[in-house]
Amino acid sequence: MKRIALVFVAAGVLTGTAAWLAPASFGQNTGMTAGQATPDSNAAKQVIVTTIPQGYRDWKFVSAAHEAGDLNDIRVVIGNDIAIRAYRAGKPFPEGSVVGRVAWKMVPSEENNKTFGKEQSFVPGDAPDWYLQFMEKDSKKYAATGGWGYSNFGKDLQPTTDEKVMYSCFVCHQAVTQRDYVFTKYSP
Ligand code: HEC
Repeated sequence: MKRIALVFVAAGVLTGTAAWLAPASFGQNTGMTAGQATPDSNAAKQVIVTTIPQGYRDWKFVSAAHEAGDLNDIRVVIGNDIAIRAYRAGKPFPEGSVVGRVAWKMVPSEENNKTFGKEQSFVPGDAPDWYLQFMEKDSKKYAATGGWGYSNFGKDLQPTTDEKVMYSCFVCHQAVTQRDYVFTKYSP
């Protein structure tokens, strides 16, 4: 019954959201370049998380990615124990799941290249403006945004609180609603 209710809430959000989609470009501020929306309801405020989850640096590895172009970063996706258990069991993410993604500027490693005898090695460099990102599952608290709250911290570790920017996280992650808004698949 609860599930059905949530589906209705989600449907309502989607319908309501369609009207907000606008050709703005603030998605770029998140280190991504699509998923634009102009939020004008509580959903935008509700989506924002402003604290870095404790102990995230000890979390387990889910997978890695490299984004080329303007981003030009190396990133890892990590999860807290609740999320990792769900990932490994192929089960839905329970309440309290947190999935994180940490990015670094991608830089050539002279030392490694010297060792290899050719230019082939790239490693993480400084933190970019879109350094730490997390999505936290709380179906009640973040009901208006698919049950996930989103956070972004720059290299200064300050949270991004711009509602448009933060709402764009949800808008883009809706591309994978069928996987509970999580893009990254577990790399065994
Ligand atoms: C234009 C689309 C887009 C926008 C906007 C976007 N993301 Fe993502 N996000 C992705 C894609 C694609 C991935 C997986 C590949 C990667 O990490 O590069 C991802 C990965 C993630 C992950 C790792 C879990 C997963 O879903 O794979 C987190 C956490 C995350 N994003 C948080 C955020 C936050 C927080 C924001 C807003 C500040 C945001 N994202 C904005 C597309 C987007």
